[in-house]
Amino acid sequence: MSVAETPHKTSNDRAEPVQLHVAIVMDGNGRWAKRRGLPRTFGHTKGVEAIRRTVESAPDFGIRWLTLYAFSTENWRRPAGEVSEVMRLMKSYVDSDLEQLAQSGVKVKILGRRIGLTPDIAEIVARAEARTAQNDRFWLQVAFNYGAQADIVDAARGLMVAAVRGELAPEQLSETEFAARLSTGGAPPPDLVIRTSGEQRLSNFLLWESAYSEFVFQDVLWPDYGAKHLKAAVDEFHTRERRFGGSETGDILAAG
Ligand code: IPE
Ligand code: IPE
Ligand code: MG
Repeated sequence: MSVAETPHKTSNDRAEPVQLHVAIVMDGNGRWAKRRGLPRTFGHTKGVEAIRRTVESAPDFGIRWLTLYAFSTENWRRPAGEVSEVMRLMKSYVDSDLEQLAQSGVKVKILGRRIGLTPDIAEIVARAEARTAQNDRFWLQVAFNYGAQADIVDAARGLMVAAVRGELAPEQLSETEFAARLSTGGAPPPDLVIRTSGEQRLSNFLLWESAYSEFVFQDVLWPDYGAKHLKAAVDEFHTRERRFGGSETGDILAAG
């Protein structure tokens, strides 16, 4: 895996390594299976292969942080059989891939609530993070039992506790301070948010963090996703002009 070695020409023609944070709403597993007359769970199994292809190819496109939305706080509403299959796949993915990820310098982080996970899933989450805690070349963040609203509420609750204990005065709270308490706290905000399957909504993903992200919606169903789709999304990202509220890129640079 070659992380962050892709040279990118900047406006002043200096070749700089690009370090992108790309976040993906991996959607369309159910429809992929349905189109083939298969049970939805088969789509989830195929989805794991797409995860492998995506993680493997991401560094080739200058991605250093990859955040994948795998299971939302709302996905518990699905039939029990489907939920338990997603849980089983999460466990088998970590069991089979963790060692190789760890040895390739990947830091694995699981975003989302630990409360509500069964003990076996909580154990593999803890194991994946502990085994890769020292790595920093490439971050794989998996949003699992994740909802952005729940994450924001949890951050706010932590701040309230700190305030009640007298450890934090209300006027000390800033956007930076708040963001650090989200489960994405250690990573920069996503540069690019991708959603597959043609749906164009966030579905409670990274609501705070995506304030200035670029969005790319791709029609491909997640089980069919691979390097060429990721490359197309990143290429599209590089055509966008990001302004962050300024009037044009030159002004932002001038303002330092
Ligand atoms: C995304 O695919 C995977 C999960 C939410 C676990 P879906 O299962 O949502 O697939 P569709 O949207 O029904 O096709
Ligand atoms: C979002 O997809 C959650 C994940 C991809 C894990 P959903 O398929 O659950 O979203 P909605 O229900 O179509 O908005
Ligand atoms: Mg869906």
